[in-house]
Amino acid sequence: MTRRAPIGATTQLLTTRHAPAVAAGLHDAGGAVQGMVVGTCSLGGPYHFDPFDAYAEGLVTNPNVLVAGQVGRGKSALVKCLLARALAAGRRCVVVDPKGEYTPFAEAMGATPLVLVPGGKVRLNPLAGSREDTDREALLGALVAAGMERRLEPSERAALEVALLAADGLAGETTLCEVLDQLLSPSIASARSVGTTPEALAAEGRTAALELRRLVLGELRGMFDGPTSAGVDLDGDVVVLDVSGAMRTGALPAVLSCAAAAIDASRRQPRAARTILVLDEAWSLLANEGAARWLQSGFKLARARGVAHVLVLHRLSDLAAAGPDGSVQSSIAAGLLRDVETSVLFAQPPSEAGALAELLGLTATECDVVGRLGRGAALWRVGAARSIVRHAVGPAELAFVDTDQAMRG
Ligand SMILES: Nc1ncnc2c1ncn2[C@@H]1O[C@H](COP(=O)(O)OP(=O)(O)OP(=O)(O)O)[C@@H](O)[C@H]1O
Ligand SMILES: [Mg+2]
Repeated sequence: MTRRAPIGATTQLLTTRHAPAVAAGLHDAGGAVQGMVVGTCSLGGPYHFDPFDAYAEGLVTNPNVLVAGQVGRGKSALVKCLLARALAAGRRCVVVDPKGEYTPFAEAMGATPLVLVPGGKVRLNPLAGSREDTDREALLGALVAAGMERRLEPSERAALEVALLAADGLAGETTLCEVLDQLLSPSIASARSVGTTPEALAAEGRTAALELRRLVLGELRGMFDGPTSAGVDLDGDVVVLDVSGAMRTGALPAVLSCAAAAIDASRRQPRAARTILVLDEAWSLLANEGAARWLQSGFKLARARGVAHVLVLHRLSDLAAAGPDGSVQSSIAAGLLRDVETSVLFAQPPSEAGALAELLGLTATECDVVGRLGRGAALWRVGAARSIVRHAVGPAELAFVDTDQAMRG
């Protein structure tokens, strides 16, 4: 057996038994963490992981997780199995599913995916949360900034803030349409609160208002323009949002932000169960400045809210496509990656070594290992601990992890 053999395949376990000797910096921490069984460590024992347990044990200072790897290496399969196992352990999960591939998972868990499509049957109110929740302001700002593809001016941000406040002051549930009305025709009280006249405030908020109007009447029509549809349970233990039908709208980042915010807003306090929020194909979210900012604030509040974000990406260099070099979104994306203390790295081509080293601080040895992993095997970095783990899919789980049917058909 040579060092060049694929790592992680069952028949290759002996190769990594001596990992510290042949690959300095790698060791096995499989027994150190409580949580769900993920699979088999390179040393042969079971590997456990749970983002909240890893935090409680002091291995990491935040519960957020990055899952990255080449196409078809088993990222989504791992996430689905981890969620199924976490649910059995009393966790809650929310999935934003841009490919529409979590339906078998949702059904196996006894849930029905919420299909978000313009003019569809499911409507969510992203502003339905508690009025003390400052995140609604962030969401609103992110939504408008995403549509405009630029940062908001301080005057636009203030106009949005006072419009939200005024809409909250009206009877009934606050919706995006009410905020839009308040932006277009601000009251004297709103104007006074920022030391100006209603005319001047309307002028300052007009570009933002027109953008919000375009989204609400256009790309987001029927999805986010009113109260949440009757019968939609966003407080259940399993919430899967199928946004595949909204991919075509060009407003995907806005859709993802709204959807995740709606779910977050719906959480009743106090809510004992901790939530794993999966953002599969997360590059599409990070590509947009407003959406990236929204995610940035979610990351910061992760501990306070008991939410572990799981970002699923292909190549880290995709994030360069998040915007021109040096753009705000690529620096936010880089900052998020730097904050992530748990990364699960499936196989990556050698061309990614630079990005892995730069963005995640991988050593040359770790980059080499990541270049040679087989399907289903990943390098787990949980705080300072490093393990190579082959994800084990149980017989009952096979049915909901399989994304290869079309290839066999
Ligand atoms: N550990 C595993 N054991 C057995 N089969 C697996 C394992 N991991 C993944 N597979 C199979 O490999 C296929 C691809 O997996 P998956 O859809 O998770 O890849 P992915 O990395 O998410 O791909 P993409 O980048 O296209 O989203 C699936 O059919 C899945 O059943
Ligand atoms: Mg996938």
